[in-house]
Amino acid sequence: VIPLTAAELAALTGGNLCGADGPTAADEPTPVPVVTSVVIDSRAATAGALFAALPGEQVDGHEFAADAAGRGAALVLGSRPVPSAGIPTLVVTDVTVALAQIAAEVIRRCPGLWVVGVTGSVGKTTAKDLIAAVLESGGARVVSAVGSFNNDLGVPLTICRCDADTEALVLEMGARGIGHVARLCGIADPAVGVVLNVGTAHIGEFGSRAAIAEAKGELAEAAREVAVLNADDPLVRAMASRTRGRVVLIGTSADAEVRAQDVQTDATGRASFLLVTPEGEVPVRLELIGEHQVANALAAAAVGRERGLSLPDIAAALGTAGPRSRWRMEATERSDGVLVLNDAYNANPDSVRAALKTLVGIGRDGGRRTWAVLGEMAELGDSSAVEHDTIGRLAVRLDVARLVVVGPAAGALHAGAVLEGSWGSESVHVPDTDAAVQLLTNELEPGDVVLVKASRVAGLERVAAALLDPTVADSSVSTGTSAAGRDRP
Ligand SMILES: Nc1ncnc2c1ncn2[C@@H]1O[C@H](COP(=O)(O)OP(=O)(O)OP(=O)(O)O)[C@@H](O)[C@H]1O
Ligand SMILES: [Mg+2]
Repeated sequence: VIPLTAAELAALTGGNLCGADGPTAADEPTPVPVVTSVVIDSRAATAGALFAALPGEQVDGHEFAADAAGRGAALVLGSRPVPSAGIPTLVVTDVTVALAQIAAEVIRRCPGLWVVGVTGSVGKTTAKDLIAAVLESGGARVVSAVGSFNNDLGVPLTICRCDADTEALVLEMGARGIGHVARLCGIADPAVGVVLNVGTAHIGEFGSRAAIAEAKGELAEAAREVAVLNADDPLVRAMASRTRGRVVLIGTSADAEVRAQDVQTDATGRASFLLVTPEGEVPVRLELIGEHQVANALAAAAVGRERGLSLPDIAAALGTAGPRSRWRMEATERSDGVLVLNDAYNANPDSVRAALKTLVGIGRDGGRRTWAVLGEMAELGDSSAVEHDTIGRLAVRLDVARLVVVGPAAGALHAGAVLEGSWGSESVHVPDTDAAVQLLTNELEPGDVVLVKASRVAGLERVAAALLDPTVADSSVSTGTSAAGRDRP
């Protein structure tokens, strides 16, 4: 972070500095010099860290203040003094609000920083990672989180990683309701806003796709210089009227300024296309798997182009950028030739459709038998049963050879497949991940390709992990989710 003194932090947040032995009198010297990083996990604390103590769901962050201090933290940011930590506390009414205030100050102190925000219903993390990869390939010093980090904690924490040398900051912005993205933009003040799509993820919370569009469009409104908008999504295209920035349309539509032409996928599921812009065109072959990555790649190309990167350089970066954040279409070939597509990070109808198409494409082009191991798509509200049913039917229509539906919450998937004409063992419903692993272990044959996908709650990454390393079959894999990294659509 830009170094900030405790006194500056107190002024910024309106908080009270309490020395390790109680409130500091106004005439006493500032008890801590400067804070040089911000953490919410005490284990990540290093010398000079500000340890933000959050009221967790299970544990109270204040209890870890002493641990943070032991690792060198200089100051606790908390909602009450923590004398036992042995370091001062900056006491504020709301730690999350204070983090936002600190992050906004970091942005103000980095006037040359080029901030890119990314939102959408699906693909935010992937697009954000691709944008960072493209900008880094151009030599820029980029700050960008690994994982989602797209909420009121993740965004400020990511911002706080910037220092005077940082040139570009790429932020994922999620929303669970109207005003959320606008609030994040109020902190980050993005020059560029990228809106990928308006899908149905978390429609249960929003109520309608129009409401989702309203929420995602707040990024177009906030973008000071450029709004990068997906021309192929009518709800995103319409956001052109909501921005004061220049509009750069991306997509396959004829009028897209940054356009993909002749999209093709190969036997590994990777897409190739001709990247067409007003400056010229260049062939691109993506390292990431799935045709749906083309849209994410166009977003990265558009942002790279704004930064002055040449088309060949952009194409080269897109051709080497693999997955950075875990469990998003991670393809691993086992020694026996079984190809595992671990897409267990999350799932909603849009991303499952995209993943199934990728699976079937790989099966077709590579002559492989296809398996889809699918679990619950969470947070779909009233449309849950219908959406699961629809995906089950889609799997049959796409002719996925074997559908393994995992867990009671995903039952409608199996039912949909059966109603669509699946018979015999084409679609099976197993109670849990152990049963899925058992079935797969018995029946997978060399050359098969297996997609593993569900919402995080289903824990299907355990299935993927077990397929790739049988010794971890029933050990739990770290979920890798923290309050900050946790996803929101
Ligand atoms: N344009 C797209 N269309 C459909 N599916 C996509 C698209 N982009 C990515 N996906 C798939 O969606 C899933 C989630 O991708 P990613 O993590 O990038 O999205 P996200 O928007 O960051 O999600 P979250 O809301 O959980 O943070 C992955 O399975 C990915 O392969
Ligand atoms: Mg994400």
